[in-house]
Amino acid sequence: MRTVCLLAAWALAPGWAAPPAAIELPAPALEGGLTLRQALRERKSHRAYSPKKLPRQMLSNVLWAAYGVNRPAEGGRTAPSAHNWQVIDVYVALEEGLFLYDARGHRLVLVNAADVRDLTSTQEFTRDAPLNLVYVARMEKMTASPEDSQEDLLAWASMEAGAVSQNVSLACAAERLATVVRAGVQRPAFAKAARLAPTHRILLAQTIGYPR
Ligand SMILES: Cc1cc2nc3c(=O)[nH]c(=O)nc-3n(C[C@H](O)[C@H](O)[C@H](O)COP(=O)(O)O)c2cc1C
Repeated sequence: MRTVCLLAAWALAPGWAAPPAAIELPAPALEGGLTLRQALRERKSHRAYSPKKLPRQMLSNVLWAAYGVNRPAEGGRTAPSAHNWQVIDVYVALEEGLFLYDARGHRLVLVNAADVRDLTSTQEFTRDAPLNLVYVARMEKMTASPEDSQEDLLAWASMEAGAVSQNVSLACAAERLATVVRAGVQRPAFAKAARLAPTHRILLAQTIGYPR
């Protein structure tokens, strides 16, 4: 009885709200921002972030640039993919919880209601940032032929993640956002929080926010 009362008190506490099972993103803005050449001039790694949250529209723009569907008729994506296997899952770590980016639905699907942003990183400066992305390869989607070694497959998945991260870097530069690509992830802890399968491989993470 006491536990029930405590839980009820917690649920009714001001500011508490369960994260939704899915967050529908607004359509990405397909115009605006800096030009490609201006963005290339501005691209750099940032390591000082403001805790200010990103508006949903900005989240939408960044995720669509990352790995959104840009050719709906054939399901084509903004980043290239070996054999078009599309092996990269984009995990989205926000204060509200950990989500998976559903590119076809252009929405976020809840994976874990906890704030796991810390687990996406091994560095202090990421603590303040509102958004961390983690690029995870679903290696089981790669149906290899005998001449493709495991080393080849991992290299191709990593190249796909590299293309996704560069899309994000340029989108951030175009929107005057700060970002840094990171290999440093607390891998076992993040894999547990994201409930990854043994065939899922954490490749890269990327911090995004406003510069401090
Ligand atoms: C694959 C890869 C992994 C990286 N890992 C980290 C990282 O874990 N932490 C970090 O602060 N920067 C990381 N970086 C960013 C590099 O340190 C940065 O790109 C480099 O110092 C050049 O600086 P610039 O991006 O401003 O040109 C990584 C970059 C790449 C491409």
